[in-house]
Amino acid sequence: MSRVMPYQPQWIREDFVDFMAEKINPLWAWKKVKAKLVNIEMLSADFYQLELQPNNHFNAKAFLAGQSLLVTVQIAGVHQQRHYSIVKITETGNIVIAVKRQGLLSNALTRLALGSVLEVSQTQGDFNLDDGSTALLLLASGSGITAIYALLQQALKQNTAPIDLLYFSRDHAFDAALAQLAQQHPQFQYHYFNTIAQPQHLTLALLEAIVPDFQQRASYACGAVGMMHSIQEIYQQLGISARLKQEYFQVPVDESAEAQSVVFLRAQQQFSASTNLLSSAEHAGLRPAHGCRMGICNSCSCIKISGSTKNLLTGEIDHHSNTPIKLCISQAVSPVVINL
Ligand code: FES
Repeated sequence: MSRVMPYQPQWIREDFVDFMAEKINPLWAWKKVKAKLVNIEMLSADFYQLELQPNNHFNAKAFLAGQSLLVTVQIAGVHQQRHYSIVKITETGNIVIAVKRQGLLSNALTRLALGSVLEVSQTQGDFNLDDGSTALLLLASGSGITAIYALLQQALKQNTAPIDLLYFSRDHAFDAALAQLAQQHPQFQYHYFNTIAQPQHLTLALLEAIVPDFQQRASYACGAVGMMHSIQEIYQQLGISARLKQEYFQVPVDESAEAQSVVFLRAQQQFSASTNLLSSAEHAGLRPAHGCRMGICNSCSCIKISGSTKNLLTGEIDHHSNTPIKLCISQAVSPVVINL
């Protein structure tokens, strides 16, 4: 007599479970973090603050001020991803991000209807305060104010040492809130530069005039490429780079570097690269794995078999063979072969 074995599924596909679950509730997923847009607020003409209510896979307790969130949205059937600095996590565990209306995904995000559901990551990144008790210099330009604002709030909670913020911007996003914080906290000095009313760049002379003891402070900078280059140069010249922590919201390109031949060995593909290796590969029609595009998540890590690459965030040139690199922040400075 044959015995009837109970049905034992060998595996269950996560995407199938998610597909079924989201029919019942769009926030439900087996493992994925999803979040519902519950509020949207205008900070300035093109800068919006979005409040997202995540499902219970999101670990709000792991959040450290200065971290960011990878947001995924489907636009015209294609998954688009981008990193946004987290302004704060509310007391109810909602995630607040600020989004400048520029680029495909950011534009789409600011036009979403309340109640829309997005896929988001856990909090990511290490742009955090090292020590809350030292004097700080904070530098921000443009959208970089989001991460700096989060660090400032954290520092004010735990720090009575002096904090100076230099903020270069074309608009007034966060300006009123920052001015108010300066009134409430005597240790905080706020220096705002409206770069439309009065063009102003970050220079050594400006730093010395406004924050004479800046060389002794822990410094944090997040902003556009111009400001980030200036601060990097100033700190390198003074030999105090170790005191500076930087977070890019836009990976710079070395425009002086010539286009180089890049080979993805296993895929047997060759292409010419004149920007970061991820974008150059995509431009050539390839689809390497990636996530944040900012050097944070490690999704694009791979082994460089030979050739020289430049780390676009630190400026370091790597000539080693068989060494790991991140495609999104590496630019070829000689012909390169990659194990992909
Ligand atoms: S895509 Fe995240 S590190 Fe490169």
